Amino acid sequence: MNSGVLELRNKLDSALQQAASVAELENLKVEYLGKKGSVTALLKEMGKLSPEEKKSFGSEVNALKDYAAQAIADKAELLQKLELQKELDAVEEFDISMPPVLDRGSYHPVTLVQRKCEEVFRTMGFTVEDYSEIVTDYECFESLNIPKFHPARDMQDTYYLDNGQLLKTQTSAAQNAIYKKYKDALINEGKPIKAVFPGRCFRNEATDACHENTFFQMEGVMVGKDISIANLIYSMKTMLSEVFENYGLKVRLRPGFFPFVEPGFELDISCQICGGEGCPSCKHSGWLELCPCGMIHPNVLREGGIDPDVYTGFAFGLGLTRLAMMKYGVKDIRDLNSGSLTAMSQFFDDK
Ligand code: DAH
Repeated sequence: MNSGVLELRNKLDSALQQAASVAELENLKVEYLGKKGSVTALLKEMGKLSPEEKKSFGSEVNALKDYAAQAIADKAELLQKLELQKELDAVEEFDISMPPVLDRGSYHPVTLVQRKCEEVFRTMGFTVEDYSEIVTDYECFESLNIPKFHPARDMQDTYYLDNGQLLKTQTSAAQNAIYKKYKDALINEGKPIKAVFPGRCFRNEATDACHENTFFQMEGVMVGKDISIANLIYSMKTMLSEVFENYGLKVRLRPGFFPFVEPGFELDISCQICGGEGCPSCKHSGWLELCPCGMIHPNVLREGGIDPDVYTGFAFGLGLTRLAMMKYGVKDIRDLNSGSLTAMSQFFDDK
């Protein structure tokens, strides 16, 4: 065998013996078989040889080439096996005869009330809409009759993005888009708009047992010809009776100000704990404040492309987080966003 070929083969053998990782083998491959590798360099020496020498030298170099490729691949396979075995050895042994841990999860209380509300509204012919959490100032405020510098904005400071968009402070932010989506069917086909849109809202607020910077609401609107406060009361009463599974539930309206409704109301329900008799939970009034609502302001309808002289409608903003707290007796709102299974497991059920 040619001395150069032999020398290179011996060098390769000892390098292979020392290689301890797949990564090292990759380097060896390049070092020997790459374009600028040592085997390739041997071939370049052929020019200096006589025709007979060329023949035997060529076949020896080619054999070395095949040998190197195979030897590197074999060693790689071996190392891979060893590495796998090392990983397997590191895994703790487990006892397959141990009984399984059957801790089942459940839907979050807010999800449960949200689904319940959606189900009830669907049966009343409402569509359920999805809406972005990041909205524009126009969607969240301007289109809702809350111009820039309106004092109502003070109550709804939020998180602003660098591009001027913001995290929505209220599900009302979807109203304008919903009107625009369905106005043609309303105007041309006389189809009333009936939609609810649940969503997560954000406010820059200090948190305590009753306040959170992140909470859920469900907005609802109904727009058509001759929609009145009677429709509002009926829809709310039906929905709340179903959610609380209390068909004797009473509602009442008190005046309340919200720039996007006129008149605006606070809707109360008879206290679910004392049945209206008066107890500490309802501050002995017999009523619980539940859901702000009202008749949609003409400016808001107009901004959505709907003529307020022809159509009227109602809107409400149900606090889903609040509703979940009432329904499941959650005392601290922060538990709901805590992600703590210990706190939440008390509300787990089989649903
Ligand atoms: N968006 C209001 C808030 O978060 C709640 C609200 C009030 C919604 C009255 C309505 C409404 O649709 O009619 O404070």
